[in-house]
Amino acid sequence: MQTLPFAPNAPWLAPLAGYSDLSFRMLCRTFGAACAVTEMVSAKGLVFGGHGTTRLLTSSEGDTPLVVQLFGSEPDIFDRAMPLLLERGFTHFDLNCGCSVRKVTKSGSGSALMAKPTLLESIVKVMVRHAGAGQVGVKLRLGIQQGEENYLELGRRLAGLGAGWLALHPRTAKQLFGGAADWSAVGHLARAVDIPVLASGDLFCAEDAARCLAETGCAGVMFARGALTDPMIFQRLRDLLAGREPAPRTAESLAATTALHIRLARNLEGTPRALRALRAFLPRYAKGFSGIRALRQAFLLCTTWEELEATAGSIATLCETSTHLDPADISDAIDFTGGYGA
Ligand SMILES: Cc1cc2nc3c(=O)[nH]c(=O)nc-3n(C[C@H](O)[C@H](O)[C@H](O)COP(=O)(O)O)c2cc1C
Repeated sequence: MQTLPFAPNAPWLAPLAGYSDLSFRMLCRTFGAACAVTEMVSAKGLVFGGHGTTRLLTSSEGDTPLVVQLFGSEPDIFDRAMPLLLERGFTHFDLNCGCSVRKVTKSGSGSALMAKPTLLESIVKVMVRHAGAGQVGVKLRLGIQQGEENYLELGRRLAGLGAGWLALHPRTAKQLFGGAADWSAVGHLARAVDIPVLASGDLFCAEDAARCLAETGCAGVMFARGALTDPMIFQRLRDLLAGREPAPRTAESLAATTALHIRLARNLEGTPRALRALRAFLPRYAKGFSGIRALRQAFLLCTTWEELEATAGSIATLCETSTHLDPADISDAIDFTGGYGA
């Protein structure tokens, strides 16, 4: 059975609804992601054959190690969903207890589970019973709101139930993405449990991750919005920790990243949906470069894969210089997802 990498120089790609699909995972793996998590998958959708579940679970050779993230609130549904996933060869699973978007919490799923520890534990027990001890992780927030932080207590209990790791986005559910991630909480959790703890939250560049690792002593990090803007962030962290100077962002590296993402999406999915998604996705990679407006325009006008490829080929003339990447440019990833709150 494959073991998952937990180490400072083994950064993970975080679960990203709408983004961490097969082609983006493969892109990030090319640039050094040591492990990747799927977009969140509804346990109910899986059991009842919900629309879209098949695409969310599409994987391919090389897409490994892979963690399937599930959301839901009914232990008996998980009891039926887990065998379906195991039959398909998936081995590692994560329970989403971090998503605060209303669409998810109104059914008691995502961060709403943190308000019901007994129910959360029942779901983890079911997942561990099917997958085995150490095969299941849980992604937590601090708690529902300030003054009700229960991540430490929950973390200890989940470790005792056989969870293999915990990931913490150190904000309360109520905060959504507001304020700053409280990395000190990651340190508290890492010291409180004897299983690996992964940090997630405000890791916008490799330097942020290196600081978070040093300040908290956590086992590793997960990149989310930072990877959406700069998929090379994984290699940059590896370089930084090895004492090497990370490669600069140049028009050539931007063109290469963009071309690779297009090739992966075309080969691995190749649907009109994939093309439309890329048109909105690709200009993010040009954040901080001059000429991004012209590039965004050019991508929006593309209606075929060939046009997308040709536009990627013209990046070196459209985008001439790279400037400092402002964290505000990266954090706006939330705005264009319609206020996703995980
Ligand atoms: C567009 C978007 C989609 C997300 N989707 C998920 C998800 O499906 N499951 C989950 O647990 N967290 C999800 N998250 C939360 C991230 O995994 C991560 O915990 C959060 O963005 C904090 O990290 P960051 O500040 O470095 O971006 C999502 C975040 C964003 C911005």
